[in-house]
Amino acid sequence: MSVPAIERVLFTEEEIERAIRRVAAEISAHYAGRELKLVGVLKGSVFFLAALARELTVPVKVDFLAISSFANQKGAPGMVRIAKDLDDSIEGEEVMLVEDIVDTGFTTRYLLQHLSGRGPKSLALCTLLDRTPRRIVQVPVDYRCFEIPDRFVVGFGLDYKQLYRNLKYVAVLNSEPATEI
Ligand code: IMP
Ligand code: MG
Repeated sequence: MSVPAIERVLFTEEEIERAIRRVAAEISAHYAGRELKLVGVLKGSVFFLAALARELTVPVKVDFLAISSFANQKGAPGMVRIAKDLDDSIEGEEVMLVEDIVDTGFTTRYLLQHLSGRGPKSLALCTLLDRTPRRIVQVPVDYRCFEIPDRFVVGFGLDYKQLYRNLKYVAVLNSEPATEI
């Protein structure tokens, strides 16, 4: 299997650590005295969620769901379905959806609707990367570490064909994959 090489590092390990500490401090201040449930999306947000959770000073619970995305009949992306649901109820809880990247916004909007239907006390959104130039549907991003340009990126949870998730940094690949993600 041929794998495209890294073109350049967009965010170093140190820059990511600093951004996560900044966002974690904002979240900890906002939720001071309360308990927060972090909801991660398998598999991409696991790495960010784990790093973020370790920096939070409020009591934290974690739960995960998994999704699969597919194209609609016209071949356009944006259809999402739950492949693995949360283990536990979120009713009456303060919930934060933790994403690796908000791109077109389709996945995130679907997940926010899914979660808000479960009766949480509050629902917020935190993402490692926010790629606003490609946004099609608007979603309220409460906390973000970085805004990124319209380039395909890997690392810190983000994959290309399931590879590169374990990189400590976020990077741009040298040949842009022309794939459905
Ligand atoms: P959406 O377009 O906002 O629905 O994003 C859908 C999903 O596509 C994200 O959760 C990621 O898993 C994936 N994705 C979007 N952009 C990238 C990228 O640059 N690298 C790797 N995965 C991506
Ligand atoms: Mg992916």
